[in-house]
Amino acid sequence: MAERITLSVIKADIGGFVGHSSVHPALLDRAREVLSDEGKGLLVDFYVTCVGDDINLIMTHRHGPDCEDIHRLAWETFKKSTEVAKKLKLYGAGQDLLTDAFSGNVKGMGPGVAEMEFVERASEPVVVFMADKTEPGAWNLPVYKMFADPFNTAGLVIDPKMHAGFSFEVHDLVENKKVVLQTPEETYDLLVFIGAPGRYVVKSVYSRELSDIAATSTTQRLNLLAGRYVGKDDPTLIVRCQSGFPAVGEVLEPFTLPHLVSGWMRGSHKGPLMPVSVADATPTRFDGPPRVIALGFQLSDGHLVGPQDFFQDKAFDAARNMASEIANYMRRHGPFEPHRLHLDDMEYTTMPQVMEKLMSRFEDIS
Ligand code: 13P
Ligand code: 13P
Ligand code: MG
Ligand code: MG
Repeated sequence: MAERITLSVIKADIGGFVGHSSVHPALLDRAREVLSDEGKGLLVDFYVTCVGDDINLIMTHRHGPDCEDIHRLAWETFKKSTEVAKKLKLYGAGQDLLTDAFSGNVKGMGPGVAEMEFVERASEPVVVFMADKTEPGAWNLPVYKMFADPFNTAGLVIDPKMHAGFSFEVHDLVENKKVVLQTPEETYDLLVFIGAPGRYVVKSVYSRELSDIAATSTTQRLNLLAGRYVGKDDPTLIVRCQSGFPAVGEVLEPFTLPHLVSGWMRGSHKGPLMPVSVADATPTRFDGPPRVIALGFQLSDGHLVGPQDFFQDKAFDAARNMASEIANYMRRHGPFEPHRLHLDDMEYTTMPQVMEKLMSRFEDIS
């Protein structure tokens, strides 16, 4: 049997520089040091990057998803980088590490996890999308376009290996349930759910023709785990491309629309998702607008050849300009919905205190 490779992306915000805008270089250096020392013999390869204030550890290995040693390595890397963040008094040092002791799997401990295992093809192009100032449901619209919209993905119509469509595994983050829906025939059912990205998110996508995984994402909802505001759950998405999966250009195409996502300032506002290069992934205006980066790698016996910083391309300038215009428009709504999130979706609110203060002044309307 062909040897399988696992691609694991594990991410966390362990301190912002300055505020929530980016990661201090010393943290990235420390993370690379730890992965290279303690990952010896365990990892095939790794690449460390950041988007806004979130560090992403992109790792390849032969141990499958949910491997305790890999998760412990990621946890140790974040812990040791947090020591640097604390020394520099960076903002929210250790923000996403909800506990002290590692307990077998980082899921549920704060960091976001996206992992997929597969047999590396003759050529294996993958794109890792990483976003800041938003939540896992932000991928719903672009993932739908990549794998189910023939106006986005020409291959759905003209590639015999894609024509059978894809299976979407959808998670209900509130009830903790999952369902698998097939496109194209269950497209309308799928949209009923994933059109509500605060609750239903696409966890993974599979090719029906190849019976193989095509995409997977982080779906952790930190605030549901922690029961308090600890930042949004800035998400990551891995997509395999070409030869029966969407072409690289079909996978990037949805981001020409800076669609509205939840997050931005204090995790409590809607704003456009702006595609940017790694160098421009520094959300500043009103702590945003939310950013997405896309790094491409060719896998070669598990080695990460790359990255190619896709959104550096000038072809995304128009999307960035549109995002800035949408940001202007949304900002002018100030504290009003739908710029500010609906009460139920806000990460924090003064409503209980204000309500208590004014309680005695509320009268029945006759
Ligand atoms: P503080 O100013 O209280 O830290 O809150 C704002 C913020 O940045 C939330 O993460
Ligand atoms: P992060 O979730 O990226 O830490 O941002 C928190 C925030 O409050 C930004 O205004
Ligand atoms: Mg932060
Ligand atoms: Mg962040």
